[in-house]
This record gives sequence, C-alpha cells and structure tokens, in this order.
Amino acid sequence: MKRFLLVFSLLISAFFCTQTKLNLIPYPQKVELKIGNFEINKNTLFVGDKKSNEYKYFIDNFKKIYPNDLSKNINKIKPNFISLLLNKDLKIDTKREFNSNYILNISDEMIVVIGKNSEGLFQGIQTLLQLIKTSKDGKIPALEIQDSPKFAWRGMHLDVCRHFFTVDEVKQYIDYLAMYKLNTFHWHLTDDQGWRIEIKKYPKLTEVGAKRKESMIGAYVDNIFDGKPYGPYFYTQEQIKEVVKYAQDRHITVVPEIEMPGHALAALTAYPELACTKGPFEPATKWGVFDDVFCPKDETFTFLENVLDEVMALFPSQYIHIGGDECPKTRWKECAHCQELIKKNNLKDEHGLQSYFIHRIEKYVNSKGRKIIGWDEILEGGLAPNAAVMSWTGVNGGIEAAKSKHFAVMTPGSYCYFDHYQGDPATEPNAFGGFTPLDKVYSYNPIPSELNAEQAKYILGVQANLWTEYILDFKQVQYMIFPRLFALSEVGWGTSDPKNYKEFEERVINQFKVLDKMNVNYAKSIYNVSGKVIPNNNGVSYELSTSQNPNGIRYTLDETEPNADSQTYQNPIPVSKSMTIKSAYFENGQLKSAVSSQQFTTSKTTGKTITLEQQPSENYSFGGAFTLVDGIVGNVKQLGKTWLGFQGKDVIATIDFGTKTQFSEVYFNTLENKGSWIHRAKSAQIFVSDDNTDFKMIKEIGKDEIQNSNGKIKLNVGSQNSKYIKIKIENAGIIPAGNPGADSKAWLFVDEIGAN
Ligand code: ACM
Ligand code: ZN
Repeated sequence: MKRFLLVFSLLISAFFCTQTKLNLIPYPQKVELKIGNFEINKNTLFVGDKKSNEYKYFIDNFKKIYPNDLSKNINKIKPNFISLLLNKDLKIDTKREFNSNYILNISDEMIVVIGKNSEGLFQGIQTLLQLIKTSKDGKIPALEIQDSPKFAWRGMHLDVCRHFFTVDEVKQYIDYLAMYKLNTFHWHLTDDQGWRIEIKKYPKLTEVGAKRKESMIGAYVDNIFDGKPYGPYFYTQEQIKEVVKYAQDRHITVVPEIEMPGHALAALTAYPELACTKGPFEPATKWGVFDDVFCPKDETFTFLENVLDEVMALFPSQYIHIGGDECPKTRWKECAHCQELIKKNNLKDEHGLQSYFIHRIEKYVNSKGRKIIGWDEILEGGLAPNAAVMSWTGVNGGIEAAKSKHFAVMTPGSYCYFDHYQGDPATEPNAFGGFTPLDKVYSYNPIPSELNAEQAKYILGVQANLWTEYILDFKQVQYMIFPRLFALSEVGWGTSDPKNYKEFEERVINQFKVLDKMNVNYAKSIYNVSGKVIPNNNGVSYELSTSQNPNGIRYTLDETEPNADSQTYQNPIPVSKSMTIKSAYFENGQLKSAVSSQQFTTSKTTGKTITLEQQPSENYSFGGAFTLVDGIVGNVKQLGKTWLGFQGKDVIATIDFGTKTQFSEVYFNTLENKGSWIHRAKSAQIFVSDDNTDFKMIKEIGKDEIQNSNGKIKLNVGSQNSKYIKIKIENAGIIPAGNPGADSKAWLFVDEIGAN
C-alpha cells in the first residue's frame, strides 16, 4: 500500500500527466490529442435538439459552471459553437458495440459530440462537462475521443432500509452515477429493519413496517441502542415514479430489490401470517440475519406476486432483484407446512426449498416479461432457469452462473463493498469492518480468470454496494462512495489500469476539485499517513509513510494536533516510553489527510525477541509474533491488525529480555466476540527461566478470572528477576452448543504481552 515517491519523480509524472492524460474519469477508450484549443466565450453558440433531455441536461450543467456573463472570458472574439448530435450509423474505432458509444471532436472552432443514440450522446456530454469543469480559463484542448464501455451493467447499490435517504438525496446519488458513466442504480428497498416502498394493496407494510423502535449505534459488539424511534420512512409510489424518471433522463436503469425469503422481518411485522410461526414480530433494531423469514405457503406467494405487480408497474427495468441472500433455514426445519412441501415436491432439504421458492417467483416474474436477479444464494439447491446472479460472497457465484450460461453481475465483498473501511480504521468514522481502499477497488477485474472467452460473455458487469448500517446520513454516504466510485467507474468502463494506479490517483485528486465545488464530502484516506512499528536495538520505532510526497508528513509527540509547523518527519521515531504519536499529511501548508493517532504503551517486553510455539492463522497473523510486543495494545472491543488469531490452538510465547530483568506484573489481552466464534481463553500460566530450558511456573489463572476480566488481564506475579518469560494462554477449545459455530474450534485472539 505504501508508495514512496521522490518529489522529483512526482514532478516528472505530473508533467507527463498533463501532457498525455486528460482529467477524465472514466478514462475514454481512445484519445487523440490535437494542436490548439477551443475557447468558451460570450460568442459560444449551442447547436442541437433543444427539446431533447440531453440538450437540456447539458445546458443546465453548463450554466452551473458558467452561471454569469461569459464576457470576462473573452480574449479574442471569434465565433465558435458546441454541437450535440445523434447519428444512428455512428461507427467508432473501438471493438465494442454499445448504445453508449460516442465521438467527441474538439478543434479551435467547434466542439462536436456525436452519440450513436441519446444514451451515447449523454455519455459524450459527461466527458465534455468534465473537460469544461477541469479546464483553466475556459480552454479545452483540441482532440478526438472515440469511446464505448466494456460492461453493460455498471452499477451502484444503495440500502435505504438500515438508514433512509430522502428523494432529493437519492437524486443526488443518481447524479453522481451519471457523472461517472455508471448506468444502473440498485435500490435496496426492503429489509428486516424497514420496508420503504408504498404498496397500495398492503398498506400495513409502510404503516407498521417502515419504522422501528430504536436503532443500534456504535460498534456491533457494544450492543448499544439509541432509544429513539426511527421512521416511518418510505417512498410513496409518486416519489418512486419521480426517481425512476429522474434516473431515466440520465440513462440510468433503476433496479428495485424486494428481499425474499429472508431479510423479511419488517414485512412479517405487518403480515405475521406469512411467517412459519405466529409472531408477533417487530422490525429489527439491530443489524444481522434473523431466523424469521417468509414461509413458502400459497398465501405468501400471492402476497409477493401482488407486491411484485405494483413494483413492476413502477420500475420498467428488465431485471427485478428478489434478494435471496442470507435466509436461515431454522424456521423451515421446524415448520410442518415447510416439511410437507419438501416431501410433496421431492426436494432434498431446506436448500431445495429455497430453490423452490426462487423458481416459483421467477416463473411469475418471467410471465410478466421480466427477469430476476438475486444474490449468490439463489444458486442454492439449483438456479432458476433464467435467473441472473449477483456474486457477492466472492466470485464463485459468478463463475458458476457464467459456466452454466446464466448472466452474472460481479460485486465481491472484498473489492466492491463500499461500507468497508477505506483507510486505517483508527482514522476513519465507524464502519462495518473490512478494508477496501481505493487501489483495491481499482485493481478489480470483473472477468474471473477461470472463465474462457465464451463464458466471460455472461459477465454482465460490475457493481459496488453501499449497506448503511453504519451510515447515518447523506454526508456519510458521500464519504463512503467517494473516491471509490471513481475506481468502480473506470473498472466498469474497462479502462482501469492497476499497473498505473499512481496516474489514476492523480486524476482522482483532480476530480476532488469538482467534488469540492459541489460541496461533496469525500474521503481523504489516500492522503493518510500510515505507521509501522519496527524493532530497534532497545525497543521499537515508529515508521511513517504516505503515498504522497513524504516531505509533507508532520507529527507531534505531545498529544496536540499536528499543524503545518509541527516537526517534519524524516526518520522512524524511537518509542522510548508510553506516548502518542499524531501525524498528518500537509501540502502547501494545508492539512490534506485525517490525523492519524497511535498510542503506545511500553513495558519491559516492548521490542524484545519473542517466539511462538504455534503460529497464528494465516488471515490473522499480521505482524507475526512481534505484534505481541510492539507497544500497541489491542482494543478489546475491536478486531484488527493489533491482534493475533489462533483457531483451536493455544498461545505459547517465550520472550527473551536479553539480560536478567526485574518485574512484578504481567499483562495480556484477549478478545471475545462469540458471533465470530471468538472466545476468551480457558486458562493462562506464566513461567520464568534464565536458560530458556528450565522454566518455573510463577502464576496460573483459570477461566472464571479470565471471564470476569473484561479481556484485560493484569497479574501480580511477585518480585521476579529473570532472563526469559513464557506465557501459555489456553484456547477455549470446542465451541459449546447454543453458540454460533457450535462444535467447531474456537478462535483465541491475543494481544500485547507486557511485564513491568
Ligand atoms: C449481502 O451483502 N447480504 C448481499
Ligand atoms: Zn413454514
């Protein structure tokens, strides 16, 4: 992640960049720069079909850039014009045949945008608007662009159930998609925590299902609720029509999602008779997956068909998203009707029942001339004949779909979930988890390497998802999608080039100016300063880095916020005592990044040699054994890279002080998150030795003491003087019944073993 660049090379690349790359995202397929400039001035004329949406859209946006008289821009008066044209026979010199094809021709006298149809013209207008917005003095370089997208589905999703966003905010979201040539808006309208679309036939869906008693706040493990009623919030059918029209005018298809059979608690609250058990239910107040789901009875299908009728009347999209994800089979296993249905239809099990459910819905949707798309889990028990798969748990769903000649949209969590952190969690607002920085999104190739050319044709495209459990308002929506939407845009258009990420990052920084003018709150994580603890002779040092100019890092050691006059970072900072290092990135005296703050708690073990008898699991091994003595104490509320994770294994660590050392207290931390199979240790023993062979036990504690400790264990070990200390922390073993992951091996997470 760290890219060190000398100022020198930054200057060079910036120079070449302005020579060869335009400030465009997504970058076009084919750009030919010419000599000269078009100059926007008072005499600029506009040519085109004045009644068309595209013409009006262009003029509206042009006026936002030049709201006033242009006369101040006149250098020399020469007549010029901007022409917006259609040509259905347009042939462009790229291999792809799409409606969004366009040509943009710019010379001294004129700008001509030619679309193969109105959609192509619209995309060409977006390119032109970006050139105008990022130009200096109204001068646009002469050029010819021939352009077309790689993928037909370039999508962004928005969850309006966990948190609701107004019609105006949804329209702004659609504007962002349009500006960067995304063409599909996946609107997640129903879930456990709220039903957000008016259905005339079933008014209770929004009367009862569009509000909840309260909402979870903060980190999931804290299990804290705000005590404030939320809602009712929903969109009326008139509002939905308004949004669909708004999107259509921007050549964006709105794909509605109605979740089934799972994520249905809000609907079941309104109509409990559609569940396997009697209820009563209430819309969920916490996040997650819930056992009460739609029961596959005739009554349920009638309900869903009626709902879908109203949905299909509102949304003209070819695809209707029917959810399908995360449907626990708990209730179905115990429901007489469900079991009977399994028998009657010779289904293998409850997964067969999930497949039965989706097939039946598909048949209905197909009978109305539409197609279904659903999350990976619609593959369970066999895919419905015409269904498309939205591959989210990874890429396997997409691969399986494509190999069986079903269409797929790729949206794997690790590249495309924009609810993940995009910078060091310590510097970011609370988020769902994960780590999906800009360069990770940019590196994504939606065509899995497992597919041959024929199979690859079934990959419709790519989408990013924005789940909003931890996204409380629209400013936070903006923050989570930008700048990652830029990377998605280029991946979907097919011009991303991960080898040249640095060049892309420069265009991103240029687009920030456009976002600034729109007052959009975007993440500045790409400027952030990262830190790494490194051992030095007597302890540890903290090494700071940034992908930007390293001379821009400023830091403090006295808990004050760094400013432009704080110390300039040059070499790793020795951590000689417990302290906090605050750092940030500055450019021309201005703060560009978040402030990174790292607290160190040193002890006599800090930076000493440590060995582990058994290694942590690969995914949770971060800095290796050294993590346990790096002076950074794991936050007992948050899994992260300060912890080492061991599945089914004990931690047996030996620390070599180097010389005989006095201490009387030993501490270590363990994490607990039973939902993630993480259990506290069963026991711990501490030993000392002077020769690393004969160890004497000096302390032992059992389960109760660890359970009651809050995860922070501090042990008085009496007055000791030894060269080695060994600590054995016992894994909880097999997870007991009644817990998530019962009968599997428990995880033990440990951090920072200290002695004083
Ligand atoms: C999903 O993230 N549950 C599709
Ligand atoms: Zn049932």
